[in-house]
Amino acid sequence: MTLSKHGPGGTEVEIPWCHALRCLRCRGPLVSTSGLLRCDECAAEYPVDDGIPRFVSRDNYAVGFGYQWNRHRLTQLDSHSGMPISHDRVMGASGWSADELQGKHLLECGSGAGRFTEVLCETGAIVTSFDISSAVHANAASNRRFPNLRLVQASVYDLPFPEEFFDVLFCFGVIQHTPDVERTFKTLFRYLRPGGRFCVDVYAAMVAYTHPRHLLRPFTRRMPPARLYSLVEQTVPRLLPLSTALSAAPAVGPYLARLVPVANHRHLNLRDPQTIRNWSVLDTFDWLAPRYESPQPRRRLERWTRDLGLREVSIRRHRGLYVIHGVK
Ligand SMILES: C[S@@+](CC[C@H](N)C(=O)[O-])C[C@H]1O[C@@H](n2cnc3c(N)ncnc32)[C@H](O)[C@@H]1O
Repeated sequence: MTLSKHGPGGTEVEIPWCHALRCLRCRGPLVSTSGLLRCDECAAEYPVDDGIPRFVSRDNYAVGFGYQWNRHRLTQLDSHSGMPISHDRVMGASGWSADELQGKHLLECGSGAGRFTEVLCETGAIVTSFDISSAVHANAASNRRFPNLRLVQASVYDLPFPEEFFDVLFCFGVIQHTPDVERTFKTLFRYLRPGGRFCVDVYAAMVAYTHPRHLLRPFTRRMPPARLYSLVEQTVPRLLPLSTALSAAPAVGPYLARLVPVANHRHLNLRDPQTIRNWSVLDTFDWLAPRYESPQPRRRLERWTRDLGLREVSIRRHRGLYVIHGVK
Protein backbone atom coordinates (compact mmCIF):
# COMPACT_ATOMS: atom_id res chain seq x y z
CA MET A 1 0.00 0.00 0.00
CA THR A 2 1.31 3.45 -0.81
CA LEU A 3 -0.84 5.65 1.35
CA SER A 4 0.42 8.67 3.28
CA LYS A 5 1.46 8.23 6.90
CA HIS A 6 0.23 11.66 7.77
CA GLY A 7 -2.78 13.10 9.51
CA PRO A 8 -4.61 16.30 8.63
CA GLY A 9 -2.18 19.22 8.36
CA GLY A 10 0.73 16.90 7.51
CA THR A 11 1.58 15.95 11.11
CA GLU A 12 2.60 12.36 11.80
CA VAL A 13 -0.09 10.60 13.78
CA GLU A 14 0.40 8.05 16.56
CA ILE A 15 -2.35 5.52 17.27
CA PRO A 16 -2.54 5.21 21.07
CA TRP A 17 -4.95 2.24 20.88
CA CYS A 18 -2.73 0.21 18.50
CA HIS A 19 -2.40 -2.48 21.22
CA ALA A 20 -6.00 -3.43 20.28
CA LEU A 21 -4.95 -4.23 16.67
CA ARG A 22 -3.37 -7.36 15.20
CA CYS A 23 -1.15 -8.00 12.20
CA LEU A 24 -3.11 -9.40 9.26
CA ARG A 25 -0.21 -11.63 8.30
CA CYS A 26 0.86 -13.27 11.62
CA ARG A 27 -1.73 -11.95 14.17
CA GLY A 28 1.14 -10.40 16.16
CA PRO A 29 0.67 -7.13 18.10
CA LEU A 30 1.17 -3.81 16.28
CA VAL A 31 3.16 -0.83 17.50
CA SER A 32 2.67 2.76 16.39
CA THR A 33 5.86 4.29 15.08
CA SER A 34 6.64 7.33 12.91
CA GLY A 35 3.16 7.57 11.46
CA LEU A 36 2.69 3.90 10.63
CA LEU A 37 1.88 0.64 12.37
CA ARG A 38 4.52 -2.08 12.49
CA CYS A 39 4.16 -5.70 13.55
CA ASP A 40 6.43 -6.57 16.47
CA GLU A 41 6.78 -10.13 15.23
CA CYS A 42 6.96 -10.21 11.42
CA ALA A 43 7.81 -6.52 10.72
CA ALA A 44 4.80 -6.05 8.38
CA GLU A 45 3.88 -2.37 8.07
CA TYR A 46 0.49 -0.71 7.70
CA PRO A 47 0.06 2.94 6.70
CA VAL A 48 -1.84 5.48 8.75
CA ASP A 49 -3.58 8.03 6.57
CA ASP A 50 -5.62 10.96 7.90
CA GLY A 51 -5.14 9.38 11.36
CA ILE A 52 -6.78 6.13 10.14
CA PRO A 53 -4.89 2.81 10.04
CA ARG A 54 -5.32 1.17 6.61
CA PHE A 55 -5.62 -2.56 6.11
CA VAL A 56 -6.96 -2.60 2.52
CA SER A 57 -5.80 -1.13 -0.76
CA ARG A 58 -7.66 1.82 -2.27
CA ASP A 59 -8.90 -0.25 -5.18
CA ASN A 60 -11.73 -2.45 -4.03
CA TYR A 61 -15.31 -3.15 -5.04
CA ALA A 62 -16.67 -0.43 -2.73
CA VAL A 63 -15.36 2.74 -4.45
CA GLY A 64 -18.97 3.77 -5.16
CA PHE A 65 -19.68 3.72 -1.43
CA GLY A 66 -16.63 5.89 -0.81
CA TYR A 67 -17.91 8.36 -3.40
CA GLN A 68 -21.44 8.35 -1.97
CA TRP A 69 -20.45 8.87 1.66
CA ASN A 70 -17.92 11.58 0.96
CA ARG A 71 -20.54 13.50 -1.06
CA HIS A 72 -23.11 12.97 1.66
CA ARG A 73 -20.89 13.17 4.72
CA LEU A 74 -23.51 14.88 6.87
CA THR A 75 -26.89 14.12 5.27
CA GLN A 76 -27.97 11.32 7.63
CA LEU A 77 -26.18 12.36 10.81
CA ASP A 78 -28.58 13.23 13.63
CA SER A 79 -26.28 16.08 14.67
CA HIS A 80 -26.85 17.55 11.19
CA SER A 81 -30.56 16.80 10.65
CA GLY A 82 -31.47 17.82 14.19
CA MET A 83 -33.73 14.74 14.34
CA PRO A 84 -33.03 11.50 16.27
CA ILE A 85 -33.56 9.29 13.18
CA SER A 86 -30.36 7.24 13.46
CA HIS A 87 -30.58 7.13 17.26
CA ASP A 88 -34.13 5.77 17.18
CA ARG A 89 -33.22 3.22 14.53
CA VAL A 90 -30.28 1.76 16.48
CA MET A 91 -31.91 1.79 19.90
CA GLY A 92 -35.34 0.75 18.60
CA ALA A 93 -34.03 -2.18 16.56
CA SER A 94 -31.48 -3.48 19.07
CA GLY A 95 -33.41 -2.84 22.29
CA TRP A 96 -30.10 -1.69 23.83
CA SER A 97 -29.82 1.27 26.20
CA ALA A 98 -26.97 3.76 26.55
CA ASP A 99 -26.46 2.55 30.13
CA GLU A 100 -25.80 -1.03 29.12
CA LEU A 101 -23.38 -0.03 26.33
CA GLN A 102 -21.37 2.44 28.46
CA GLY A 103 -17.74 1.26 28.72
CA LYS A 104 -18.33 -1.86 26.58
CA HIS A 105 -16.09 -2.75 23.63
CA LEU A 106 -18.40 -2.45 20.62
CA LEU A 107 -17.51 -3.45 17.04
CA GLU A 108 -19.31 -1.60 14.22
CA CYS A 109 -19.03 -3.15 10.76
CA GLY A 110 -19.28 -1.06 7.55
CA SER A 111 -19.82 2.35 9.14
CA GLY A 112 -20.19 4.44 5.95
CA ALA A 113 -20.38 8.15 6.81
CA GLY A 114 -20.88 7.28 10.48
CA ARG A 115 -24.55 8.05 11.18
CA PHE A 116 -24.66 5.08 13.56
CA THR A 117 -21.05 5.57 14.76
CA GLU A 118 -22.16 8.91 16.18
CA VAL A 119 -25.08 7.34 18.06
CA LEU A 120 -22.93 4.48 19.37
CA CYS A 121 -20.12 6.81 20.51
CA GLU A 122 -22.65 8.95 22.38
CA THR A 123 -23.52 5.95 24.60
CA GLY A 124 -19.98 5.94 26.07
CA ALA A 125 -19.12 2.54 24.51
CA ILE A 126 -15.55 2.11 23.23
CA VAL A 127 -16.47 1.94 19.56
CA THR A 128 -14.18 0.19 17.08
CA SER A 129 -15.56 0.93 13.65
CA PHE A 130 -14.38 -0.14 10.20
CA ASP A 131 -15.32 0.24 6.57
CA ILE A 132 -13.65 -1.10 3.45
CA SER A 133 -14.11 2.16 1.52
CA SER A 134 -12.85 5.74 1.68
CA ALA A 135 -16.06 6.50 3.61
CA VAL A 136 -13.76 6.30 6.66
CA HIS A 137 -12.60 9.85 5.77
CA ALA A 138 -16.16 11.13 6.04
CA ASN A 139 -16.69 9.27 9.31
CA ALA A 140 -13.43 10.62 10.76
CA ALA A 141 -14.28 14.20 9.77
CA SER A 142 -17.59 13.98 11.64
CA ASN A 143 -16.78 11.72 14.56
CA ARG A 144 -13.11 12.06 15.46
CA ARG A 145 -14.30 14.48 18.16
CA PHE A 146 -15.21 11.33 20.18
CA PRO A 147 -12.19 10.10 22.19
CA ASN A 148 -13.88 6.67 22.45
CA LEU A 149 -13.82 6.07 18.65
CA ARG A 150 -11.24 3.74 17.05
CA LEU A 151 -11.63 3.87 13.29
CA VAL A 152 -9.84 1.71 10.71
CA GLN A 153 -10.18 1.03 6.99
CA ALA A 154 -10.46 -2.74 6.63
CA SER A 155 -12.52 -5.50 5.07
CA VAL A 156 -14.71 -7.82 7.07
CA TYR A 157 -12.85 -10.72 5.42
CA ASP A 158 -9.47 -9.66 6.82
CA LEU A 159 -9.81 -7.83 10.12
CA PRO A 160 -6.97 -6.61 12.35
CA PHE A 161 -8.73 -7.45 15.63
CA PRO A 162 -8.26 -10.22 18.20
CA GLU A 163 -10.95 -12.90 18.00
CA GLU A 164 -13.68 -13.08 20.69
CA PHE A 165 -12.63 -9.65 21.99
CA PHE A 166 -15.76 -7.50 21.61
CA ASP A 167 -18.72 -7.33 24.01
CA VAL A 168 -21.14 -6.05 21.38
CA LEU A 169 -21.43 -6.43 17.59
CA PHE A 170 -23.38 -3.99 15.44
CA CYS A 171 -23.80 -4.05 11.67
CA PHE A 172 -26.52 -2.20 9.75
CA GLY A 173 -26.86 -1.83 5.99
CA VAL A 174 -23.80 -3.86 5.04
CA ILE A 175 -23.92 -7.63 4.67
CA GLN A 176 -26.17 -7.69 1.57
CA HIS A 177 -23.51 -5.54 -0.15
CA THR A 178 -20.69 -8.05 0.27
CA PRO A 179 -19.72 -10.76 -2.24
CA ASP A 180 -20.55 -13.70 0.06
CA VAL A 181 -23.27 -12.79 2.57
CA GLU A 182 -23.14 -16.04 4.55
CA ARG A 183 -19.37 -15.80 4.93
CA THR A 184 -19.67 -12.14 5.99
CA PHE A 185 -22.33 -12.90 8.59
CA LYS A 186 -20.43 -15.83 10.07
CA THR A 187 -17.04 -14.08 10.00
CA LEU A 188 -18.32 -11.17 12.07
CA PHE A 189 -19.14 -13.46 14.98
CA ARG A 190 -15.52 -14.59 15.30
CA TYR A 191 -14.78 -11.22 16.90
CA LEU A 192 -17.66 -11.30 19.42
CA ARG A 193 -16.94 -12.88 22.81
CA PRO A 194 -19.19 -15.71 24.05
CA GLY A 195 -22.07 -14.05 25.89
CA GLY A 196 -21.70 -10.87 23.77
CA ARG A 197 -24.78 -9.19 22.26
CA PHE A 198 -25.32 -8.52 18.57
CA CYS A 199 -27.64 -6.66 16.22
CA VAL A 200 -27.29 -7.10 12.45
CA ASP A 201 -29.70 -6.18 9.67
CA VAL A 202 -30.06 -7.34 6.09
CA TYR A 203 -32.39 -6.62 3.15
CA ALA A 204 -35.38 -8.98 3.21
CA ALA A 205 -35.51 -11.00 -0.03
CA MET A 206 -39.30 -10.96 -0.41
CA VAL A 207 -39.39 -7.14 -0.30
CA ALA A 208 -36.15 -6.19 -2.02
CA TYR A 209 -36.25 -8.53 -5.04
CA THR A 210 -39.65 -7.24 -6.13
CA HIS A 211 -38.38 -3.65 -6.36
CA PRO A 212 -38.00 -2.13 -9.86
CA ARG A 213 -34.40 -1.02 -9.12
CA HIS A 214 -33.41 -4.59 -9.97
CA LEU A 215 -34.33 -3.90 -13.60
CA LEU A 216 -31.87 -0.97 -13.64
CA ARG A 217 -29.03 -2.36 -11.50
CA PRO A 218 -27.45 -4.58 -14.19
CA PHE A 219 -26.57 -1.31 -16.00
CA THR A 220 -26.17 1.20 -13.17
CA ARG A 221 -23.85 -0.89 -10.99
CA ARG A 222 -21.29 -0.86 -13.80
CA MET A 223 -21.37 2.92 -14.31
CA PRO A 224 -18.59 5.19 -12.98
CA PRO A 225 -19.90 6.61 -9.68
CA ALA A 226 -19.68 10.29 -10.73
CA ARG A 227 -21.69 9.63 -13.92
CA LEU A 228 -24.39 7.67 -12.13
CA TYR A 229 -24.57 10.27 -9.37
CA SER A 230 -25.15 13.08 -11.84
CA LEU A 231 -27.93 11.06 -13.52
CA VAL A 232 -29.59 10.40 -10.16
CA GLU A 233 -29.25 14.08 -9.21
CA GLN A 234 -31.09 15.09 -12.40
CA THR A 235 -33.78 12.42 -12.14
CA VAL A 236 -34.79 12.64 -8.48
CA PRO A 237 -36.39 16.13 -8.65
CA ARG A 238 -38.62 14.86 -11.50
CA LEU A 239 -39.63 11.49 -10.07
CA LEU A 240 -39.88 12.26 -6.37
CA PRO A 241 -43.06 14.41 -6.67
CA LEU A 242 -44.67 11.61 -8.72
CA SER A 243 -43.74 9.01 -6.11
CA THR A 244 -45.14 11.23 -3.33
CA ALA A 245 -48.38 11.88 -5.24
CA LEU A 246 -48.90 8.15 -5.90
CA SER A 247 -48.22 7.29 -2.27
CA ALA A 248 -51.17 9.47 -1.21
CA ALA A 249 -53.66 7.21 -3.06
CA PRO A 250 -55.96 5.47 -0.58
CA ALA A 251 -54.98 1.87 0.34
CA VAL A 252 -52.77 1.11 -2.68
CA GLY A 253 -50.60 4.28 -2.40
CA PRO A 254 -47.42 2.67 -1.00
CA TYR A 255 -47.57 -0.10 -3.66
CA LEU A 256 -48.00 2.40 -6.49
CA ALA A 257 -45.14 4.57 -5.18
CA ARG A 258 -42.84 1.53 -5.21
CA LEU A 259 -43.16 1.42 -9.02
CA VAL A 260 -41.19 4.67 -9.26
CA PRO A 261 -37.49 3.88 -8.71
CA VAL A 262 -36.58 6.74 -6.35
CA ALA A 263 -36.07 6.48 -2.59
CA ASN A 264 -38.89 8.30 -0.82
CA HIS A 265 -38.55 8.96 2.92
CA ARG A 266 -41.98 10.45 3.50
CA HIS A 267 -42.36 8.29 6.65
CA LEU A 268 -39.47 10.19 8.29
CA ASN A 269 -41.21 13.61 8.11
CA LEU A 270 -38.00 15.37 7.08
CA ARG A 271 -38.10 19.11 7.57
CA ASP A 272 -37.56 20.93 4.28
CA PRO A 273 -37.58 20.23 0.54
CA GLN A 274 -33.77 20.41 0.24
CA THR A 275 -33.30 17.78 2.98
CA ILE A 276 -35.97 15.55 1.42
CA ARG A 277 -34.21 15.80 -1.94
CA ASN A 278 -30.75 15.10 -0.46
CA TRP A 279 -31.93 11.94 1.33
CA SER A 280 -33.63 10.79 -1.84
CA VAL A 281 -30.56 11.35 -4.05
CA LEU A 282 -28.35 9.57 -1.51
CA ASP A 283 -30.53 6.51 -1.12
CA THR A 284 -31.47 6.23 -4.79
CA PHE A 285 -27.74 6.18 -5.59
CA ASP A 286 -27.30 3.64 -2.75
CA TRP A 287 -29.84 1.35 -4.47
CA LEU A 288 -28.33 1.61 -7.92
CA ALA A 289 -24.55 1.78 -7.45
CA PRO A 290 -23.41 -1.12 -5.23
CA ARG A 291 -21.52 -3.88 -7.02
CA TYR A 292 -23.30 -6.46 -4.83
CA GLU A 293 -26.82 -6.61 -3.49
CA SER A 294 -28.05 -9.97 -2.18
CA PRO A 295 -31.20 -9.74 -0.03
CA GLN A 296 -31.83 -12.79 2.15
CA PRO A 297 -34.82 -14.98 3.03
CA ARG A 298 -35.72 -15.45 6.71
CA ARG A 299 -35.20 -19.20 6.60
CA ARG A 300 -31.57 -18.80 5.58
CA LEU A 301 -30.94 -16.36 8.43
CA GLU A 302 -32.48 -18.84 10.87
CA ARG A 303 -30.13 -21.52 9.57
CA TRP A 304 -27.05 -19.32 9.93
CA THR A 305 -27.91 -18.39 13.52
CA ARG A 306 -28.43 -22.11 14.30
CA ASP A 307 -25.09 -23.03 12.63
CA LEU A 308 -23.35 -20.54 14.93
CA GLY A 309 -25.21 -21.71 18.05
CA LEU A 310 -26.48 -18.17 18.76
CA ARG A 311 -28.91 -17.74 21.65
CA GLU A 312 -31.98 -15.61 22.40
CA VAL A 313 -32.24 -14.93 18.66
CA SER A 314 -34.96 -12.67 17.35
CA ILE A 315 -35.48 -12.05 13.61
CA ARG A 316 -38.02 -9.31 12.97
CA ARG A 317 -39.12 -7.61 9.76
CA HIS A 318 -38.81 -3.85 9.80
CA ARG A 319 -39.93 -2.30 6.49
CA GLY A 320 -37.67 -3.93 3.85
CA LEU A 321 -35.19 -5.37 6.36
CA TYR A 322 -34.72 -8.27 8.71
CA VAL A 323 -33.22 -7.22 12.02
CA ILE A 324 -31.47 -10.08 13.82
CA HIS A 325 -30.42 -9.73 17.43
CA GLY A 326 -29.44 -12.00 20.28
CA VAL A 327 -26.49 -13.34 22.24
CA LYS A 328 -23.46 -15.42 21.17
C1 LIG B 1 -25.12 0.92 2.53
S1 LIG B 1 -23.62 1.34 3.29
C2 LIG B 1 -24.12 1.41 5.00
C3 LIG B 1 -23.25 2.32 5.82
C4 LIG B 1 -23.72 2.52 7.27
N1 LIG B 1 -23.70 1.28 8.01
C5 LIG B 1 -25.11 3.12 7.26
O1 LIG B 1 -26.05 2.36 7.46
O2 LIG B 1 -25.22 4.32 7.03
C6 LIG B 1 -22.69 -0.17 3.23
C7 LIG B 1 -21.25 0.01 3.71
O3 LIG B 1 -20.63 -1.27 3.81
C8 LIG B 1 -19.28 -1.11 3.43
N2 LIG B 1 -18.74 -2.43 3.05
C9 LIG B 1 -19.07 -3.19 1.97
N3 LIG B 1 -18.31 -4.30 1.95
C10 LIG B 1 -17.52 -4.27 3.05
C11 LIG B 1 -16.50 -5.14 3.57
N4 LIG B 1 -16.14 -6.27 2.94
N5 LIG B 1 -15.87 -4.78 4.69
C12 LIG B 1 -16.20 -3.62 5.33
N6 LIG B 1 -17.13 -2.75 4.88
C13 LIG B 1 -17.79 -3.08 3.75
C14 LIG B 1 -19.34 -0.13 2.28
O4 LIG B 1 -18.12 0.48 2.01
C15 LIG B 1 -20.41 0.85 2.77
O5 LIG B 1 -19.87 1.97 3.43
